Amino acid sequence: MRTTFWLLSFILLSGTAFLGFFTSVYYYYLFILLVPLFVVGVFDIFQDKHAIRKNFPVIGNLRYFFEFIRPEIQQYFVESNLSGRPISREMRAVVYQRAKGVLQTQPFGTQRDVYEEGHVWMNHSMYPKKIQTKDMVVQVGSKFCTQPYTSSIFNISAMSYGSISSKAIHALNLGALEGGFYHNTGEGGISSHHLHGGDLVWQIGTGYFGCRTSDGDFDPIQFREKAHYTEVKMIELKLSQGAKPGKGGLLPGIKVTEEIAEIRGVPIGEDVESPAYHKAFDSNEGLLDLIQKMRELAGGKPVGIKLCVGRVNEFEALCQSMVQKQMWPDFITVDGAEGGTGAAPLEFANSMGTPLEEGLALVVNTLNGYGLTGEIKVVASGKVFTAFHALTKMALGADIINSGRGMMLAVGCIQALKCNSNHCPVGVATNQESLMKGLDVDSKSLRVANYHNETVKSLAHLVGAAGYDHPEYIHRIDIFRRMGDAVVASFEDIFPSVDYGSYLNVYEK
Ligand SMILES: Cc1cc2nc3c(=O)[nH]c(=O)nc-3n(C[C@H](O)[C@H](O)[C@H](O)COP(=O)(O)O)c2cc1C
Ligand code: SF4
Repeated sequence: MRTTFWLLSFILLSGTAFLGFFTSVYYYYLFILLVPLFVVGVFDIFQDKHAIRKNFPVIGNLRYFFEFIRPEIQQYFVESNLSGRPISREMRAVVYQRAKGVLQTQPFGTQRDVYEEGHVWMNHSMYPKKIQTKDMVVQVGSKFCTQPYTSSIFNISAMSYGSISSKAIHALNLGALEGGFYHNTGEGGISSHHLHGGDLVWQIGTGYFGCRTSDGDFDPIQFREKAHYTEVKMIELKLSQGAKPGKGGLLPGIKVTEEIAEIRGVPIGEDVESPAYHKAFDSNEGLLDLIQKMRELAGGKPVGIKLCVGRVNEFEALCQSMVQKQMWPDFITVDGAEGGTGAAPLEFANSMGTPLEEGLALVVNTLNGYGLTGEIKVVASGKVFTAFHALTKMALGADIINSGRGMMLAVGCIQALKCNSNHCPVGVATNQESLMKGLDVDSKSLRVANYHNETVKSLAHLVGAAGYDHPEYIHRIDIFRRMGDAVVASFEDIFPSVDYGSYLNVYEK
């Protein structure tokens, strides 16, 4: 192939130059076009990194070109309405429609096969009710809180500044303000882009960004100061997230700009590690003490934890400690293994952690068994894009739903899947100014608010159609899944409930 390249190059270059000289000027243009290809070919032959380019100079590069445009080809020409990963075209379309406030109805009936295994539905009532979207709120705050928070049932999940752009954060925050719901900061700290008036849940991960001592420990003084911001309504201590449970992170020094350094409370230009574990505690008792300390430092605002369910016995032990110490968080956010991330190793994203339905059912059952439901609100996240998705999680016991990627779609994400490369083409997940330019904060914030409002409205309609006044009355018995030919099971059959306080009695005996 390489000999052919040299031969072809010689014939083409000398041929076009000769013809250009003796016949037409157009051969000169052809000659000019062929020179760069010749240079590419020479580079290919003399480089040692890529065998395909060395063996097939020039045309070997087509492989990289097609790999580069594969996601676009897949998205625009190959995927069907119900396919498309991680988010199907149908789900992306419904978010866009709700965000833009355009036609939202479906023509001609469902595209789903309702007899297919796995199909999920809810049974309606003969006596539907009309319920108001203003009632779609939940009060968060146990008896330990002096500043409980009234939360919308649908909110923005944790996504830190850095993993998404300053403009995206700004648009999300304004959307939260316009729509009356909360915006979780993610573990990267509170930036000026978060402070446009939307309610905040300040998330604190193992890096304690924004409340961190110089050696990476939790700093109560900085914590108290920021927890008192009026925008901060609740605090979330992150133990793990579904897309990479048990994995820490490293922010390379090159990304630690002056602004990021200030927000996170770290030195400019130095690598910053978020360990996989918390330095501030190493036992259930230590965790509960920290929660109580944070609540006091925050002036009585609700403090919760976020986790993806891992070992079942560990979560049970945590609930036992809550009962023993008579101390608990105000909310627990359960993130499913199907959850999103800016970047995670494949093995963690694909194969670590419990998926949302199983994790949520376990958390709700355990809290119920220990008599802790009610005091502790349960928040769920993991591929919730529509009101029906939200409803199925609420049937399992979630009080509140968080959405990460749904909100990203509303802000303009087109699922180009380049979040980890800093080359997001729509300026959502990049800090490149040239790419962020395309993101118009005012119109996108309106879309975020619209998406929230339309989803909550649709949820109210579904709850009413089932004959209830509030999603809290939806139970596992209301949702059904086809398990096979003519075999249908309710969520109650699949995830049997546990009686309130029933573990407590066993435990106290
Ligand atoms: C770009 C991006 C950044 C994220 N950053 C964080 C984070 O800082 N802290 C966290 O707990 N979860 C983070 N997550 C996970 C989300 O908060 C959420 O738990 C997960 O995406 C599941 O929700 P979804 O399926 O609605 O996206 C991030 C997700 C995405 C997509
Ligand atoms: S459009 Fe941007 S945010 Fe969305 S998937 Fe692609 S890179 Fe990520």
